[in-house]
Amino acid sequence: MKPGLILGALLLAITLQAVAPAVKAAEDQEEIANPDLKCLKCHSKNLSKKLEDGDKMSLHIDGAAFASSVHNEIGCTGCHQDVPNVKHPSRQPIATLRAYSVARNEICSECHETQHEDYKQSIHANLVGQGNVNAPVCSDCHGAHSIQSRKGSEPVNGEPCSNCHEDIHQAYAKSVHGRARTEGNLIRNKAIRAPFCSDCHQAHRILALADTEYLVPICIDCHEGARLAHEQWLPNAAMHMKSVGCAVCHAPQAELRVNLQLYDRVLGVPVKQTLSDAEVQKILGEVDTDGNGLDPLELWKLMLNVDTRAQSTNIRLRGRLEVSSRVDAHRLAASTEAIRSCENCHQDNAEAFQNVTVSINRPDGRKETYKADRKVLSSPISVDSVGSFYAPGGTRIKAFDVLLVLALVFGPAIPLGHWAWGRYLRKKNNRS
Ligand code: HEC
Ligand code: HEC
Ligand code: HEC
Ligand code: HEC
Ligand code: HEC
Ligand code: HEC
Ligand code: HEC
Ligand code: HEC
Ligand code: HEC
Repeated sequence: MKPGLILGALLLAITLQAVAPAVKAAEDQEEIANPDLKCLKCHSKNLSKKLEDGDKMSLHIDGAAFASSVHNEIGCTGCHQDVPNVKHPSRQPIATLRAYSVARNEICSECHETQHEDYKQSIHANLVGQGNVNAPVCSDCHGAHSIQSRKGSEPVNGEPCSNCHEDIHQAYAKSVHGRARTEGNLIRNKAIRAPFCSDCHQAHRILALADTEYLVPICIDCHEGARLAHEQWLPNAAMHMKSVGCAVCHAPQAELRVNLQLYDRVLGVPVKQTLSDAEVQKILGEVDTDGNGLDPLELWKLMLNVDTRAQSTNIRLRGRLEVSSRVDAHRLAASTEAIRSCENCHQDNAEAFQNVTVSINRPDGRKETYKADRKVLSSPISVDSVGSFYAPGGTRIKAFDVLLVLALVFGPAIPLGHWAWGRYLRKKNNRS
């Protein structure tokens, strides 16, 4: 008999015990054979324990659910190894439910090392370490006493991620991916299924998204044909893919912004702030005295401050056009609805360039954004900090708007524009 069936039978025996004392002798024998039953004798009752913070911990465990879980074979003491070694019940004080859960979850690593190693590097683990009670430990996503195998099973209603990121799940569910997932669509004849949250973000090594470009190769892994599809109508598509987020064109309803991210030119990565939140707030307070967002002069001062404190002159701002809200990043629509007209971005006062933010990474990798005045894109004061980002249709460098018109008119002659543009950038970079 499978262990599940044994436990099932024993549970039945416990229930019968009250009405049929005759089975007791036989049951006592089996009880020794199955130590879990000993635990369940008390823990199938509705007991609870008072915690230090006044909360109540329910001690009730659903034996039947446990019996049909993957962990039936390791038994209660597979995870509660300490219980048989001490007098039990121990009456040991427990501070809070959360503290107990965080401590108990350490045990999972003994048998699931890979997942634990991955999880340790995640933003979730980082937040748990910082004392954030809303970030998940293993059992927040999997449960503890009724874990089922995930092999071949489809996430129901976006679980587990939707339990905490419901707004994003709703956007995702209506997106081309969410719909393809429920309808079982594949990428043209290929056996590639539409992604669930964990296919793009991973399940355990979930990283903060300050450097959002790192997800692009994941898109391209499934969408090999996309590169070619863009090159057919978009000049210098590779450059556009670097400066424009995928969702900017593929979530056509989204509000857009230009984000200027602090970036280390030499290392080629976003600058990770080593200062505490309070210190950053202090610098910002000193710089943005009127509290209405960074204007060009304030941005210039901020950059000076950052340069001095980071003792580096390699720090620049890197511009990227992206969607303003992380929820919108998940509203991907069919490519027939994607933005393709150049005027959407390349004209005076294009809507896409009205919102400007500046971002610095927090020590945990999440990005902190601050409002800036759109003038920072064109003002000669901040131009050096803004570096090589060319705000199309902006008033900064009219010559490039002219180049753009030429590019639009002549189409194939665009390489000339690129050549001149490249020379300008090289000159500029050598100078600064
Ligand atoms: C896969 C590991 C695992 C197994 C197996 C396991 N537990 Fe647990 N148990 C936990 C974790 C983790 C917690 C901490 C609470 C949480 O994170 O949900 C916990 C908490 C508890 C609690 C405190 C109340 C609560 O739910 O928080 C009791 C009582 C308990 N377990 C009893 C049992 C009994 C009885 C069995 C066997 C029938 C068992 N456990 C099997 C991992 C396990
Ligand atoms: C005689 C009844 C009884 C048996 C048998 C029993 N428990 Fe308990 N258990 C309790 C009581 C009562 C508490 C609450 C203790 C307290 O208030 O300090 C408790 C608490 C717990 C807790 C919560 C954490 C803690 O230490 O307070 C866990 C986990 C637990 N038991 C697991 C088990 C496991 C696993 C077994 C079997 C190996 C088991 N228990 C057997 C009565 C029992
Ligand atoms: C943020 C939610 C989340 C957290 C936290 C989490 N998991 Fe998972 N886990 C998942 C999801 C989702 C899957 C399914 C992955 C898939 O289908 O690709 C999974 C799958 C698994 C699997 C099946 C094998 C595999 O890798 O696909 C194991 C084992 C596992 N998790 C153990 C753990 C352990 C141990 C921890 C804690 C160190 C943990 N998980 C933390 C969401 C989570
Ligand atoms: C004593 C070893 C042991 C401990 C401790 C343990 N597990 Fe497991 N776990 C297993 C075994 C054995 C299986 C079933 C075989 C398999 O799929 O790896 C399993 C399966 C799983 C699965 C299903 C994997 C799948 O195939 O989809 C998940 C999820 C999981 N465990 C999570 C946890 C979590 C979360 C904890 C801590 C609360 C934990 N385990 C603690 C041994 C353990
Ligand atoms: C128990 C709650 C909980 C669950 C379940 C959960 N998360 Fe989170 N997650 C958080 C919290 C809290 C944060 C930090 C605050 C924030 O940025 O929303 C976070 C942050 C994130 C971030 C980083 C956000 C940033 O600012 O860069 C990503 C990505 C993420 N989660 C993805 C997932 C995915 C994918 C799943 C499912 C596999 C998942 N989360 C499940 C609570 C949860
Ligand atoms: C097709 C791949 C994909 C899928 C599927 C996906 N995401 Fe995302 N997610 C992204 C991208 C790309 C971003 C970054 C958007 C940006 O800021 O440019 C992101 C951003 C996020 C963020 C916030 C990061 C931040 O900067 O604040 C969270 C949290 C998140 N996703 C959770 C989820 C959850 C939960 C699901 C499932 C319901 C999900 N994602 C499904 C690609 C995906
Ligand atoms: C400047 C706007 C823009 C950006 C940025 C953009 N796309 Fe597209 N994309 C389009 C348009 C317009 C189409 C439709 C092309 C056509 O049908 O000729 C398209 C087509 C696609 C298709 C369908 C291709 C096919 O094989 O038929 C995929 C998949 C796609 N894009 C993915 C992406 C990914 C991934 C990114 C980010 C790396 C991205 N796109 C960035 C505008 C954009
Ligand atoms: C796990 C594979 C996978 C990943 C990763 C993935 N996609 Fe998809 N994508 C699909 C599938 C499957 C479809 C549905 C194809 C269909 O219905 O024609 C799809 C559809 C699309 C479409 C609509 C295509 C069209 O022709 O209308 C766009 C746009 C798109 N994805 C963009 C992205 C972006 C952007 C990312 C990364 C953030 C991404 N995808 C990541 C598998 C994936
Ligand atoms: C979603 C917005 C968007 C759309 C649509 C768009 N572009 Fe761009 N384009 C940009 C951004 C942003 C830059 C600046 C990149 C930088 O400097 O980092 C740019 C730069 C350029 C440049 C000059 C930079 C260079 O080195 O090539 C040309 C030429 C250009 N785009 C042509 C076009 C044409 C032609 C179209 C229409 C077929 C088009 N773009 C559609 C956003 C867009």
